Order: sequence, then C-alpha cells, then structure tokens
Amino acid sequence: MAPSGLLALPFLLAAALLRSSTASPCRTSCGGVQVDYPFGIDDGCGAPQLRGWLSCNDTSGMFLQTPSGAYKVESVDYQKQRMMVYDPSMSTCSVLQPPHDLILSDVQYAIMLPSEDTVYALLNCSMDSPVVNRYRYLCLADAGGHTCDELYGSCSAFRIFHMSSNTTAPACCFTRYTTLRFMNMNMLDCTHYATFVGSDQGRGLRGIGPLDWNYGIGLSFTVPPESGCRRCKRSGGTCGFDTDSGANMCLCSGNVNTTGECAGRGLADGGERAAPGRRILLMALCLLLSFYQTI
Ligand SMILES: *[C@@H]1O[C@H](CO)[C@@H](O)[C@H](O)[C@H]1NC(C)=O
Ligand SMILES: *[C@@H]1O[C@H](CO)[C@@H](O)[C@H](O)[C@H]1NC(C)=O
Ligand SMILES: *[C@@H]1O[C@H](CO)[C@@H](O)[C@H](O)[C@H]1NC(C)=O
Ligand SMILES: *[C@@H]1O[C@H](CO)[C@@H](O)[C@H](O)[C@H]1NC(C)=O
Repeated sequence: MAPSGLLALPFLLAAALLRSSTASPCRTSCGGVQVDYPFGIDDGCGAPQLRGWLSCNDTSGMFLQTPSGAYKVESVDYQKQRMMVYDPSMSTCSVLQPPHDLILSDVQYAIMLPSEDTVYALLNCSMDSPVVNRYRYLCLADAGGHTCDELYGSCSAFRIFHMSSNTTAPACCFTRYTTLRFMNMNMLDCTHYATFVGSDQGRGLRGIGPLDWNYGIGLSFTVPPESGCRRCKRSGGTCGFDTDSGANMCLCSGNVNTTGECAGRGLADGGERAAPGRRILLMALCLLLSFYQTI
C-alpha cells in the first residue's frame, strides 16, 4: 500500500543531507568569474559598502549595477584590484551605437573608478568642441601611437564619420573617464565614443590595430578598510555583514555568524563530529534503497 510515498522518502532525506552540507551562504563564483571580498552576489556577503553592486544571472553571467545600467563583468583580478566590464550598448570598431554614459554613484566613485589605462575615444567632435579648443590638453598626447584617422579609417563602424565631411575627418580625442565625468557629451560636442583598455596584463596598444583592441572599461577598486576580514578568512569564514544593521560579520559554516573569527578548533571538531552522523544516515539510505529493490 502506498509504496510510492515510501519510495520518495530516501530522496527527500538525501536532499536534506545535501542542503545541510552546503555551508556558506555566499556563492564564490558566477559565470566563471570568481567572487571574493569585497564583492558579494548574495545579500549579506562581501563588504557592506558594496551591497547590491553585483548580481548573478545563471544564464548570462555577472553584472555590475550602476545608476546608468548593468555592465557585464568579464573578469576580476583581486591581486591587481581591477575589474573588466563590458557595456553591450557601447560602440566598438564594428558596432556604432549612441553614447551610453557610465554613471557611478558617489559611493561607487569613491571605491571604484575607471583605471588609468581605460581610454575613451571621443568621436565625430565638432570644431567647436572644448577638446578641440580650450581643453585640448585633456586629450592624451599619445594613445599607443594611434591616431583618430586610423580609427576612422580601419573601423567599419566609424567610416561613416569620414563620409559626412568632405575635406578632413572630424576631430576626435583620446581621453580618460574624468573628462566624461565632468563634461557630458553635450558639452563635449562629440556624437559618439568608444572605450578600450590600453594595457591588459602589460600588453600595450602599440602595434595592435583598432580591430583587435580590448573594448570595455577597466575599473580599479580599493578594498574598504576591513574590520577583521583577514582574520575571519584565516579562520575559515567568509566576510560579510548583518543585513539589518550593515555591521561587518564573519560568516562561518553551519550558519553561524560572529563579529570576530570562526571558532577554529571548535568548528573543525564539530565538522568531524558531524561527519560520522552523516555517514550513518547515508548507510541507512543505502539499506533502505536495497530493501526497496528486493520487493
Ligand atoms: C548569517 O549571515 C548570513 C548572511 O548575512 C545570513 O543569511 C544568515 O541568516 C545569518 N545567520 C544567522 C544565524 O544569523
Ligand atoms: C537572465 O538573463 C536572461 C537572458 O539574458 C534573461 O532572459 C533572464 O530574464 C535573466 N534572469 C534574471 C533573473 O534576471
Ligand atoms: C557627426 O557630427 C555631426 C555634427 O557635428 C552630425 O551632424 C552627424 O550626424 C554626426 N554623424 C553621425 C554618423 O552621427
Ligand atoms: C561637400 O562638397 C560639395 C561640393 O564639392 C559641397 O557642395 C558641399 O557643401 C560640401 N559639404 C560639406 C559638408 O562641406
């Protein structure tokens, strides 16, 4: 009688066992990108200052949320403290799109800002543009030996600018993010821009054509002054915070949170103690299953 209900029992038990063995509430990667302090994708993980910055979509990967939208996180280098993001609505050598400004909140700007080697190529600037006149000095003297003409000439997306003017190509300017933070595109009087990273792991732009540049934005971040995160990690915990108060917390296995470090020894002992219990349960499961098979 009702054998199907009984049959489900071992599977329910197994599911419960599996759940109890996933200790940390914090995912450590998303879309192949490592997630570590100060970042976190689950609420309560990482530094409280960065709460809600990252989101994880199982199919499309990890995204950085800023007031101007969501940017795909391509990689994070924790040693160099930099993140590479890609804005699908930006222009590249092969795609021309209307400018989409990167807007960072004040807190974000204090912790994370486009790296020095992130170059903004302002395109199709009018002759009245400040970067053609008074603020010409904001343009980089040298972008790895590359010129605007080269960009207009070798990128299919930018060839259109050449055609709209009879004699010379419209002005352009290689500059840095700060120019765009303090002057918007209207003031700059350029209609488009593209961003690329000048040196990816020491690889400069010299000798590399615009088609092969690394389009995207490099962001350098600082790790907020930690309150004992290193100590927490050493004890096997994950740095996080209390979702109500925002106070730094050390998240230990078994859903235990402390303000200091995980009880190192106690935890290890506890883990060992829990293991035989699990083993006995698993053995019971096997027995149950073999029992079912015999009927
Ligand atoms: C510990 O912190 C995590 C993340 O903030 C939270 O999900 C969990 O419920 C907390 N556990 C306890 C026992 O407070
Ligand atoms: C994840 O991304 C896919 C495709 O990019 C989208 O359709 C889906 O709605 C997203 N899911 C969430 C939870 O945002
Ligand atoms: C380039 O700029 C001019 C104004 O300076 C504008 O009229 C033209 O539409 C722009 N070209 C493109 C392709 O947007
Ligand atoms: C381009 O040249 C043609 C004739 O050579 C002229 O009629 C036209 O006004 C010029 N256009 C611009 C934008 O200079």
